[in-house]
Amino acid sequence: MSGRGKFISLEGGEGVGKSTQVKALAAALRQRGIALVETREPGGSDGAEKIRELLLTGDDGRWSARAEALLFAAARADHAEKTIRPAIEAGTWVLCDRFVDSSLAYQGGALDLGIAEVRAVNQFAIGELFPDRTLVLALAEGGARARARDNEDSDRIGGRPAGYHQRVDLAFRQIAAEEPGRVRIVDASGSPDEVTRRLLDQLEDLLP
Ligand SMILES: Nc1ncnc2c1ncn2[C@@H]1O[C@H](COP(=O)(O)OP(=O)(O)OP(=O)(O)O)[C@@H](O)[C@H]1O
Ligand SMILES: [Mg+2]
Repeated sequence: MSGRGKFISLEGGEGVGKSTQVKALAAALRQRGIALVETREPGGSDGAEKIRELLLTGDDGRWSARAEALLFAAARADHAEKTIRPAIEAGTWVLCDRFVDSSLAYQGGALDLGIAEVRAVNQFAIGELFPDRTLVLALAEGGARARARDNEDSDRIGGRPAGYHQRVDLAFRQIAAEEPGRVRIVDASGSPDEVTRRLLDQLEDLLP
């Protein structure tokens, strides 16, 4: 392995299969001889996991929209510096369960802060460390899958009303339209294996 590792993020709304596919895609990439670190957001470093707790527990009104966006960005700065950058500089690939585009969609698009404003805050947090490829899983019934998995016991952000989650989906589509080179929408219906194959197709040009 020579040079920098690739940085891949998996995105999408609640319950679309991100965590399932991070595991499956990691296994598929390792099988191709790629050294890879799996990580997630919010979290992925000691400090960021502490901030995760603040973000995902308590009442919806615990944080203002701006405070929420800044806490996500603070967690991301730590995660980028402590976990992601060292790995890719060592030539290891990084596969991340949610990253900057979740902030653009959930806080920028769906909380009305504006995608461009939240992008600016995150640029301060992570500099140029945007993913080489972002795969957005798209599935209409993701919310129902998440509810079945959680028995209605969703986290602070997952529990927001359906209209909020529709704005999240719309924002992901807008981001993908703005950055077609980096961000790809992938159909998340069908079996987990079928979805993994679609994800691999969208990484074809990055594979060694
Ligand atoms: N292709 C699939 N077909 C059927 N069920 C699936 C599929 N992929 C994942 N699931 C199931 O759907 C539920 C949600 O999947 P998963 O937890 O991977 O989604 P997620 O996007 O990580 O959710 P969250 O946004 O809450 O983190 C889980 O119970 C999982 O086992
Ligand atoms: Mg998950």
